[in-house]
Amino acid sequence: MEKDKVLIFGNGQIGNFYNSYFAEQNIKSEITRADITDIKQVQKTIQKYNPTVVINTAAKTNLEWCGKNRLEAFNVNVLGADNIAQVCDEEKIYFIHFSSGCIFESKDENDEKNENSEPSPAAFYSWTKVWAEQLIQSNKSKNFRFLILRPRQPVSSQASHKNMLMKLLTFVNFVDTPNAGTVLEDLMDWTLKILETKPTGILHAANQGWTTPYQIGLMLKKYILPNLEVNKITKKELDKITPNRRVDTILNVDKLKNMGVEIKPYKERLKEIIKSLGENIRKADKEFLKQELEKTAIFSKTRTKVNSEWKELIK
Ligand SMILES: NC(=O)c1ccc[n+]([C@@H]2O[C@H](COP(=O)([O-])OP(=O)(O)OC[C@H]3O[C@@H](n4cnc5c(N)ncnc54)[C@H](OP(=O)(O)O)[C@@H]3O)[C@@H](O)[C@H]2O)c1
Repeated sequence: MEKDKVLIFGNGQIGNFYNSYFAEQNIKSEITRADITDIKQVQKTIQKYNPTVVINTAAKTNLEWCGKNRLEAFNVNVLGADNIAQVCDEEKIYFIHFSSGCIFESKDENDEKNENSEPSPAAFYSWTKVWAEQLIQSNKSKNFRFLILRPRQPVSSQASHKNMLMKLLTFVNFVDTPNAGTVLEDLMDWTLKILETKPTGILHAANQGWTTPYQIGLMLKKYILPNLEVNKITKKELDKITPNRRVDTILNVDKLKNMGVEIKPYKERLKEIIKSLGENIRKADKEFLKQELEKTAIFSKTRTKVNSEWKELIK
């Protein structure tokens, strides 16, 4: 079988994770910084690189920013995503688009959402993810091969400001409500399987099971930052301090499992990932780490109360 050549839109957390992973796997890939709101740029970039697979990770991902800049968020997350879909349809290229599990809100840990569940977006950002899904599936040829992936709260062992675990290291308050999650290291392996068979439609991409931000906070305290204060707050209290209401989402991942993919339990993987993140933090260049944690803390401040203990990590 001929190896794939992958073009990645979006020079952010997941795009870069893919690019490094594909390099390790000897799969040709490239990240483009082309503006996805400009269909001509998208077309030119795709025709020039001539990929067999296009992955779209480009989006405006900050909930607070999207809430305040609706038109621009819509332009990038919805119209931009569809620009790539249109070109992939015309050029007959397999298209993987990143949507999000946050289009759903689960009542409790038993309220699992599967690929056919009805979305119930709470924030404008989540609406843009739903609209993009709908538009990608509209007005395309019947042979268009696309896969819409829905991850949930990605975490990894990378000491990067985009990593949710790094964000939580700067928090003070943690809710104790069940949520699914996607370990990015595992998503990479699942993607290899996806590239083998190139399934189409919608696919939930999360680890098995769930945990709570409070439980994650306790693990971060145990393995990375012993002085981290982990205060439990209620959802009601959180809603008062955060500009955009956060949802809890439990994803059913049977469809991914039925593809023959090994999906490891979220709680078990979190423990491993947090331990590796601790090692990566300890061995990181202090100046780099300072910059990443500062960026994380600035972002955290826009939505919650920030601790000062994180500064111990850069001493
Ligand atoms: N991170 C999460 O919690 C999460 C959860 C579920 C699903 N997802 C989805 O997964 C995908 C990737 O997420 P991520 O964590 O990698 O996000 P990310 O780190 O914010 O990366 C997104 C990238 O897209 C870029 N971008 C914005 N507007 C663009 C445009 N017009 N043209 C080209 N690039 C543009 C951003 O640049 P700027 O920073 O300069 O704007 C950023 O580099 C997104 O679709 C996101 O909605 C993310």
